[in-house]
Parts: sequence; C-alpha cells; structure tokens
Amino acid sequence: MDQQFDMDDFTKVIVSENDISRKLDDIALQIRADYDGEDLLLVGVLKGAVMVMADLARRMPPTVQMDWMAVSSYGSGTKSSGVVRILKDLDADLSGRHVLIVEDIIDTGITLHWLLGNLRSRGAASVEVASLLRKPDAVQVDVPVKYLGFDIPNEFVVGYGLDYAENYRTLPFVAILKPSVYED
Ligand code: IMP
Ligand code: MG
Repeated sequence: MDQQFDMDDFTKVIVSENDISRKLDDIALQIRADYDGEDLLLVGVLKGAVMVMADLARRMPPTVQMDWMAVSSYGSGTKSSGVVRILKDLDADLSGRHVLIVEDIIDTGITLHWLLGNLRSRGAASVEVASLLRKPDAVQVDVPVKYLGFDIPNEFVVGYGLDYAENYRTLPFVAILKPSVYED
C-alpha cells in the first residue's frame, strides 16, 4: 500500500528514496569488508536512527547485532550545551566488542562527540560512526565519521527517521520542510 503524504509540506526533496537505497548499498559493502570475520554491534540512537538502522542492518550478515540508546541534550533554547543525559542505556556489555554507532544526522556534533567518549570508556575493542546525513555546522565539533551518506545544506530537514514535533519520521525520503508548516 502506498504511503500518503502531502508534497506541499516540503520545499524540496534533497535525498530521494532511491539515493538512500543506493548509498546504503555502498556503505554496507564497505562495512562488510572492514568488519569481515568480526562480530559487529550496531548501536542506534533513538528515535531518529530507526529507519537507517533497519535498512543498514538488513544489508549486514545475519550475525550482526543491534542495540539502542536514547539520550537528551540539555541547553538553553534550541542550542545543545554538551550536557547529555542517558534516557535509555544499552542492554549490551561493550567490553571487547566492535561497535558502530548508527546515526540519522550530525548537526553540531555535540551529542555524538559525547556519545563516542561515553562508549569508548566502556572497554569496546573499537567504536566508529556511520551517519546518513551531515550538516556543515558539524565541523564545529570534530566527530570522526567513518561512514557518511550525504553532506546536506544547513536547513531543517524531515523524513526517513527525522521529525518535526514527532511528525514526518515515516517519509521514505529526506526533504526540507516548508517554513509555513511551523511558522503560524
Ligand atoms: P547535534 O549533532 O548534537 O547538534 O544533534 C543532532 C540531533 O539533532 C540529531 O540526531 C537529530 O535528532 C536532531 N537534528 C539535527 N538537525 C535536524 C534536522 O534538520 N531535522 C530534524 N532533526 C534534526
Ligand atoms: Mg539522532
């Protein structure tokens, strides 16, 4: 059954369903080669990474494992302060494991920078990052992204896991939301 959505809500589709699928094929090939013969634990950051996690994990060998974390950044207004609180921690013990953090988007990089430090302190054999999207501001905090989908303009985007007020996560593409949707 086709999904129903109103294209008038968006200024522009910046990453199509087809773009996402082909990019995940490429990234999955690289990951499979890099972790050949190793056990890999994918760590998804809720909720935005749900779609990319599901599609990436299904391109991995069936022994790949998934775990989830939920975090919240505190700050004034819309700016992240770098103070991060764990809302849901991992179930898995990371000691000796190869961990790949799976993210939807890196904006300032503050959350991911904190997460990398946190997971690295748990005795993992390795901790790397895969992100579908990255905005230019991400250069402010240097986060080493080993597997990247797309660099995108500094605009507010929704779809493929990304929300505005919890809406639009289920869109199959990534689009720029029309300001009229949130300015009224
Ligand atoms: P940061 O990298 O610490 O600034 O935070 C990144 C998080 O902010 C992402 O994981 C998203 O949840 C959210 N975010 C950043 N940019 C967007 C956007 O354009 N649309 C929706 N959520 C966004
Ligand atoms: Mg996220």
